[in-house]
Amino acid sequence: MNTDHRVERLEAELKRHLESRLELADQRLLEAMQYAVLNGGKRLRPLLVYATGQALDLDEALLDAPACAVELIHCYSLVHDDLPAMDDDALRRGRPTAHLAFDEATAILAGDALQALAFQILGAGARSDHERIGRLAMVAELAVACGAAGMAGGQAKDLAMEHQKPDRSAVETMFRLKTGALIRASVIMPAALAPTLPRTQMQALRDFGEHIGLAFQIRDDLLDIEGETEVIGKQAGADQALGKASWPALFGIEAARERINELDAQARAALEKVGGDTSALHAMADYLLNRQA
Ligand code: IPE
Ligand code: IPE
Ligand code: MG
Ligand code: MG
Ligand code: MG
Repeated sequence: MNTDHRVERLEAELKRHLESRLELADQRLLEAMQYAVLNGGKRLRPLLVYATGQALDLDEALLDAPACAVELIHCYSLVHDDLPAMDDDALRRGRPTAHLAFDEATAILAGDALQALAFQILGAGARSDHERIGRLAMVAELAVACGAAGMAGGQAKDLAMEHQKPDRSAVETMFRLKTGALIRASVIMPAALAPTLPRTQMQALRDFGEHIGLAFQIRDDLLDIEGETEVIGKQAGADQALGKASWPALFGIEAARERINELDAQARAALEKVGGDTSALHAMADYLLNRQA
């Protein structure tokens, strides 16, 4: 899949949102927001938005807002995840983390403001009633995905599980929340713009997102063990140092690989039930689950 034009499109949109509309913002806060976003992330969640849009035959122009919104929420989650009170990390996307490049208070506020900007982008600027109605559903979907029953709740569980020996189902529930929820939202949000989509196909998309979301975090845990700091752009071995509930550390590296393959197969089976051109979604699953960084 050639994703270059989609990444370029997204980068331009993110830049626009972080520059043009914020004349009145505190300049240091704005710089921290830009630092946290315009810095070479893989943009996997926006690419999932566009890939789902392709399967549903949606106009790409309708997808820019949800693509930006989910990436902004993700970037905010990374800034807060790296804070001393959470994972206390020094390296992100190959650069000093936001609280080190700026300061802790600025990093906290940048995360807050990025979250608000995500909802501002979704809430404003719809060009038709069809788009307005879809956007409202997307706001609700994204809010659930990043809230107490989604990413934030998962992050709370992640911290509570440090130095514990949780069982597999508890760890996977935590992964589905902290990481899976935003990935699932990335494939569910575009469906809000396809109101005639049959329920079975909607459920199939949801299942696909669920399976790749969980597998993505298991892959992330594997990379923390097997990856190199220079390649992954974050400190390798950080999970062990923090006593994190890492899937491979708790249940075995080989078992982790098998679990990813199992989830991969389930994700593909779900995609079979989604009509339309799912080639980009298949390509995203390939990339997500085999990524080296
Ligand atoms: C990292 O996500 C954080 C997790 C949820 C595991 P990504 O691997 O998508 O990070 P970026 O956006 O490319 O930096
Ligand atoms: C992060 O999980 C999940 C988020 C919600 C940010 P990790 O703590 O494993 O992510 P990395 O490894 O720091 O990117
Ligand atoms: Mg974390
Ligand atoms: Mg972390
Ligand atoms: Mg990690």
